[in-house]
Amino acid sequence: LRELLPEIDMEMEDIPYDRLLAMDVRMDHFLEAFKEVEPSAIREVFVEVPDVSWRDIGGLDDIKEELRDAVQWPLQHRDLFDKYEITPPKGIMLHGVSGTGKTLLARALARESGVNFISVKGPALMSKYVGESERAIRDVFRTAKQASPSILYFDEIESLAPVRGRDSGSGASFTERVISQFLAEMSGIEELKGVVVLGTTNRLDLVDPALLAAGRFDLILELPRPDSAARERIFEIHLRKKPLSPEVRISTLARLTDGRTGGDIAFVCRKAAMLAVRDYLKSENNGEFLLEWKHFESALEGLRELPVICRPGEG
Ligand SMILES: Nc1ncnc2c1ncn2[C@@H]1O[C@H](COP(=O)(O)OP(=O)(O)OP(=O)(O)O)[C@@H](O)[C@H]1O
Ligand SMILES: [Mg+2]
Repeated sequence: LRELLPEIDMEMEDIPYDRLLAMDVRMDHFLEAFKEVEPSAIREVFVEVPDVSWRDIGGLDDIKEELRDAVQWPLQHRDLFDKYEITPPKGIMLHGVSGTGKTLLARALARESGVNFISVKGPALMSKYVGESERAIRDVFRTAKQASPSILYFDEIESLAPVRGRDSGSGASFTERVISQFLAEMSGIEELKGVVVLGTTNRLDLVDPALLAAGRFDLILELPRPDSAARERIFEIHLRKKPLSPEVRISTLARLTDGRTGGDIAFVCRKAAMLAVRDYLKSENNGEFLLEWKHFESALEGLRELPVICRPGEG
């Protein structure tokens, strides 16, 4: 139809017969169409090689170590685990307030373990028509097994598995079915080693307790807000490639961001850099491109307007 459209007069009531005859569907049309269509259930699945490494993450040293033990060892020394019948955790849940580096850590973990990384966004899976979500879950687990050794990563998992019984009517039974599907897949992973399921959430309280039971997500790690040493490291990481004016002290920046997250620090660095760019371009190349203290001052000012995110129960 697309081929003919330019020749068709839309005002006309009928399409001339000879035009209709000229309209045949050929194999190349089908092939063209295939390129545009993906199987609907796996559209949200990406197998990727992330570009973040441990070095790009400031602080969180003990969490990194725990993850290394729990993920890298079983995947890389499978024979040892098999021989002595050691069961590594099947699922790992990372939680912590927004901006503490959960997504970052998940990506670095995949890269550092050198395994395939299949990442799924919870909300995208759930926005399916009823029945499609269950199929999508089946599909992502199947993809992960085919790509093993692999990490199957569910971001914002609370949206996939919100506590049952909160929503009413047909919605509840839908969630119910999605969770049972998920649990079934997770128990099935036993036979197929080489897949580690990783979930992240900033609302652990909204995650269905059934998912957190033993044999499912049985390693639960909380990412703390960075302490002052970690904040210094995070500033260093984000300013690694930027020319700093000598009066800018990382230790001062760390002190002024007490209680803030890595995400906040990334924001400050990005903002300061943009302000420096603005000054530099205004000077029409007469000045030097430098991040000065005044840029950080304005950036920190901007941060002050952003709320500190607290979870229920946190001070
Ligand atoms: N420990 C860290 N070291 C370096 N950068 C960090 C760290 N934590 C966070 N960041 C920066 O903050 C950004 C946001 O972090 P990330 O997306 O991992 O947070 P999150 O915990 O997944 O948050 P959300 O719950 O909102 O998804 C990262 O892209 C990174 O630039
Ligand atoms: Mg995240």
